[in-house]
Amino acid sequence: MAGGASTTYIGQLFPSFSFGSTAFEVGLDAASGPLSKQVEATMHEIDAALDYLRSRVVREPKVALILGSGLGAVVEEVEEAIRVPYTGIPGFPHSTVVGHAGAFVFGNLGGVDVVVMAGRFHLYEGWAAADVELPVSVMAALGATHLIVTNAAGGIRVGTRPGELMLIGDHIDLMREGAVESYVRSGGETNHAPVDCYSSEYQQLALEVAAELGIGLFPGTYAGMLGPSFETPAEIRMLGRMGADAVGMSTITEVIPAAGLGMRVLGISCVTNAAAGISHEKLTHAEVLEAGAEASQRLGKLLMGIIARTP
Ligand code: HPA
Repeated sequence: MAGGASTTYIGQLFPSFSFGSTAFEVGLDAASGPLSKQVEATMHEIDAALDYLRSRVVREPKVALILGSGLGAVVEEVEEAIRVPYTGIPGFPHSTVVGHAGAFVFGNLGGVDVVVMAGRFHLYEGWAAADVELPVSVMAALGATHLIVTNAAGGIRVGTRPGELMLIGDHIDLMREGAVESYVRSGGETNHAPVDCYSSEYQQLALEVAAELGIGLFPGTYAGMLGPSFETPAEIRMLGRMGADAVGMSTITEVIPAAGLGMRVLGISCVTNAAAGISHEKLTHAEVLEAGAEASQRLGKLLMGIIARTP
């Protein structure tokens, strides 16, 4: 095999991955594998984005933060903020929806250097897994050692109310996009085992800070669905039986590459609504928005506390 890298049979790592009776060979050398062109293109994109960002921002972020929809309050607290819209960054995906372009916000929160993704990319918008992963790789390459991911989610666990915050202890990946691609891109050394994606030390810290601030934070399991449609009541019953406490359409595609890159990952869901069929109370859109706005402030306080004490 070209490049002298060892060949690994994907069947050794994923025993169920076979094509008929033939094990599928994946060259893990980025120069020769079946995804080599994509891998090379991604490497170039990361380099180009890094050059662009380094020419604008000198401070190295320690904590990267991805904010879910309607949960952006904390971005207002970033001091010495430098906003870099995604639209200018070479190779970056960007929304075609006016006013929703999104940006990195560099600066400091409570004295800690951060980079905030105000606006994220979802698979349901049509982005490839590599597009969703690119900003995560870039933030890691800029020096971020920690990633905090937030999202809006539907509550599955009976009794969850809009506005409640859930600490993601684990996830159920029903998106399953880009796993092999991501694995090959990493050279076969990382990303392949999403066990313990979420740092237990970071979770412990989050629980301590929440208790000190008197902010409710219940641990639970997040299920990731591709979307874009909301789930049916039957799907929610299935997810509940699988052990999911909340459901959303993001996060997993960011968390897996981040953990693979060695980042300490923390995930917090904000329950914005009861998932389909869970509640017979009819929630109005206004109530959901109100719950989200109030929760965004509370989540902001919690994030500030966690970031200030990030080791
Ligand atoms: N389902 C999926 N994603 C969501 C939901 C939901 O009920 N609420 C917010 N994001």
